[in-house]
Amino acid sequence: MAETEIRDMFVIRLRNAYAMENQALGMMRPQLSRLEHYPEVAAKLERHIGETEDQVKRLERILEDMDENYLNLKDTILSFAGPTTVMSHASVDDKVLKDALTDFAFENYEIAAYKSLMTIADAGNFGDAKDALQETLAKEQSMAKWLDDNLPAVTRKFLLMWEGDAPAARPGDPRSAHDGDHA
Ligand SMILES: [Fe+2]
Repeated sequence: MAETEIRDMFVIRLRNAYAMENQALGMMRPQLSRLEHYPEVAAKLERHIGETEDQVKRLERILEDMDENYLNLKDTILSFAGPTTVMSHASVDDKVLKDALTDFAFENYEIAAYKSLMTIADAGNFGDAKDALQETLAKEQSMAKWLDDNLPAVTRKFLLMWEGDAPAARPGDPRSAHDGDHA
């Protein structure tokens, strides 16, 4: 592959990553309001929102260094189609669990995206960009590991809260009177 082709591919993938991270922010920020009973998850999520904002800035810096006009990136944001598009969030009460699964999938998607970007950076000899991408990858891996480690605890907490509810107040429960609108 010619050097300019690798460069073009790198920029395209960087723009996709930029769209992905903005999608992640749009996904994570509303989740915070649903986590009042899950303070550890809320704290971790809040931290990762901050990390993600840094990652967006890191991508902007890399694109600036590549002489790319990242102000045009709004177009790419609209065109991003990540794993969340195939996951519908129909019912409200188990949203915390669905958020946990979506975040788990999304962080692993991000890991794949950054690993792939680093390989392209290698191929194009974009050493500085690769270092910045490595920094982001480490954060994504740490977040994915945390979600992995904590999914059982979050699920158990959800079950406890769910059991604490009156059966009639459980959408999705076959014994519930509110049948019909669960996922
Ligand atoms: Fe992330």
